[in-house]
Amino acid sequence: MDSTNQSLKPLTVKVNEAGNLEIGGCDMVKLVEKYGTPLYVIDETTLKTVCSDYKKAFKMYPKVNMMFASKALCTMATSKLLFDEGFGFDVVSAGEIYTVYKAGVDMAKVLFNGNNKSFDELTLAIELGVGRISVDNFFELSLLNEIAKSNNKVVDILLRITPGIECHTHEYIQTGHLDSKFGFDLTQIDEAVELILNEYTNLKLHGLHAHIGSQIFETSVYGDEIEILVKEIARLDEKFGLKLDEINIGGGLGVKYTEADCPPSVHTVARIVINRLNECIKKYDIQPPALFIEPGRSIISTAGVTLYTVGSSKQVPKGKKYVAIDGGMADNPRPSMYQAKYFAEIANKKDNLSSNIVTIAGRFCESGDILIKDIKLPELEEGDILCVYNTGAYNYSMASNYNRVQKPAMVLVNNSQSDMIVKREDLDDLISHDVIPDRLKK
Ligand code: LLP
Repeated sequence: MDSTNQSLKPLTVKVNEAGNLEIGGCDMVKLVEKYGTPLYVIDETTLKTVCSDYKKAFKMYPKVNMMFASKALCTMATSKLLFDEGFGFDVVSAGEIYTVYKAGVDMAKVLFNGNNKSFDELTLAIELGVGRISVDNFFELSLLNEIAKSNNKVVDILLRITPGIECHTHEYIQTGHLDSKFGFDLTQIDEAVELILNEYTNLKLHGLHAHIGSQIFETSVYGDEIEILVKEIARLDEKFGLKLDEINIGGGLGVKYTEADCPPSVHTVARIVINRLNECIKKYDIQPPALFIEPGRSIISTAGVTLYTVGSSKQVPKGKKYVAIDGGMADNPRPSMYQAKYFAEIANKKDNLSSNIVTIAGRFCESGDILIKDIKLPELEEGDILCVYNTGAYNYSMASNYNRVQKPAMVLVNNSQSDMIVKREDLDDLISHDVIPDRLKK
């Protein structure tokens, strides 16, 4: 293993003397006694190690800005931690902007992305001093210029472009191919630039931005992306005399959800990106631009696990053995949305070696709510604790209250200490936004 995104489990995982799973020096069974299940757990050591992997890997290039993609996980505590590790943030909504702002992040290190940012969101971004806005389309160019003008500001922007790169990942998380809802087509860039230079004088263009997809295992696609971005920068200089000095290549590096996954290391990707960037700088004769990267999943996935309590189980005659847990598609929608696969272990009784093939079923009222199909686990009984690995990214951030079930708590573990960073919702939280109109109160 060359970098943390290649690890199936958090780096501090071990089995303790009680035969229980331990993460961050905390016994997972005791953690469950204290906080209940389902429980999201984030291992601080793993998270900080990932950050240092990234810092080491990209230090070969002098001007690198690492922006964590908040959509993977956005809480105030994790934002604060990542900011302290030197990261800025890619945000995509007022909610993400507000969360990082309240966490004490320097807003100059925040970049606002998205294909349909609203008037209110753009206004908030300007008011709070968000450092860059990546403009996605012509409508937004005009809207943002109006807002900037009425606030007497010049707003610093990038243009999000669609580089036309297809990478081999799930169709729903591919973004860089030509017929995409995100960004300007390469053939539309000149028109956008002309508008910025001639009409939209409250916008200052600094560079180009692209993102080609997520859970990517290929490495060559990053080189291709760099080449397209640098070539465009050189072309725009030649055509408009425009000196752009920033390129943002988005995120996308994959993680190891199961033994079958072999993501490249951060170091390999960094080498490819930086080598290609240096080659392209020479080839297209441009000044070295600042490089922005926006990793999300590869930063936070491995640090996170989810703990569940085993409840009912049933053996279908001549069929599968189903074991149900107290969570599922509302706290982790990825298996039902993307056929995502996960690995799990039992957190108690780690010394129990007997094994069975079982299917882990969620508790939500849908046949598709299957968390893991056919996994080998020791004999499971009611009350056992199941630990599902690599749930740090896109689990809590995509969680819902389906079936009116409360969202789980989240706990940060480190050096045998645990701190709750997101409280468990209670029943009153669930109805706190409901209103019964007076006329119905008879
Ligand atoms: N930058 C932009 C502009 C993005 O759209 C994304 C992810 C990222 C960065 C971060 O990509 P990452 O490093 O996390 O791959 N919900 C899906 C993933 C959707 C990703 C959307 N964009 C999932 O659970 O797999």
